[in-house]
Amino acid sequence: MPVYILGIESSCDDTAAAVIADDVILSNVTASQEIHASFGGVVPELASRAHQQKIVPVIHTALQKANISKNQLSAVAYTRGPGLLGSLLVGSSFAKALTMGLNIPLIEANHLQAHILAHFIMDANKANPVPVFPFLCLTVSGGHTQIVIVKDHFDMHIIGQTIDDAAGETFDKAAKIMGLPYPGGPMIDQLAREGNPVRFSFAKPNIPGLDFSFSGLKTSILYFLRDRLKENENFIEINKADLCASIQQTILDILLSRLEKASLQTGIREIAIAGGVSANSGLRFRLDAIKHKNNWNIYIPPLAYTTDNAAMIAITGYYKFLKKDFALQSAAPYARSSF
Ligand code: KG4
Ligand code: ZN
Repeated sequence: MPVYILGIESSCDDTAAAVIADDVILSNVTASQEIHASFGGVVPELASRAHQQKIVPVIHTALQKANISKNQLSAVAYTRGPGLLGSLLVGSSFAKALTMGLNIPLIEANHLQAHILAHFIMDANKANPVPVFPFLCLTVSGGHTQIVIVKDHFDMHIIGQTIDDAAGETFDKAAKIMGLPYPGGPMIDQLAREGNPVRFSFAKPNIPGLDFSFSGLKTSILYFLRDRLKENENFIEINKADLCASIQQTILDILLSRLEKASLQTGIREIAIAGGVSANSGLRFRLDAIKHKNNWNIYIPPLAYTTDNAAMIAITGYYKFLKKDFALQSAAPYARSSF
């Protein structure tokens, strides 16, 4: 009998549930919350309320698509943190009640570890390659930017991280400055494909070590556009594709220069990417282009496992289930954490 894990993710603005049989994915359902688009960013109270509305149908659909009943579940895994507390509370309360009712173990997942462990989700024919330990993972999302040494499934060490904004946040803020809708990352990615990435140049940080900084870039974009708009109010409209391509290029330059430095310093050439920004087509293209020069084996997750999803929580649950690493009903969600 396989181990069946239901994963629940509710840390931000996606309500998601997934079912896994051992490490093989059976279903992966995500309901995104459209309500935030008109506000240009996630409104925490609205996110929490939307999770309450969506969690039951999303879990129901995940079980149905996996073709199993809740009585067959071996355990339920949920995101304990980091994330928005009001959002996390919905998933954690549901997971606790469900495991109590079914009398099965409760498993907590750290959202950032889960983004990385998404690389171990197997498709039905178990043919997808998985990273070899130890590997470096560049975790790039809306809230985090980290370089992590992954020695084992739960033996992870952050060796570099952002000292201010995250990479995804920078995409989103740049898009907002240009009047593009939220979330800006996918939109900039799409427009950048038609643009010239070296047409405009923006400030890059000059900080030692493996840490990142994006706040200077954000300010540089803001002032650059303010000045150009004074000369021509249609400047953004006329140059949208080149602006997107140049902004994306700068963000990727910052990310990749640190990743190359981390690989040189550690001698690790197994390189993975994770998190919402790992969906970026420019990042994927450039990693592929530099892998030979650096002698890297690169691991790029399928798009469905880049932005927030519950399959990554379910696979985390599976590996914790094997270790009998179960959570207490009293475990409180946390807004911030490392691991
Ligand atoms: O991992 P994720 O879904 O949520 C967090 O844990 O934060 O990441 C969301 C972030 C957003 O900032 C979004 O703009 C960005 O990932 N993102 C992208 C792309 N798709 C999503 N950024 C650049 N290019 C993309 N294709
Ligand atoms: Zn995430």
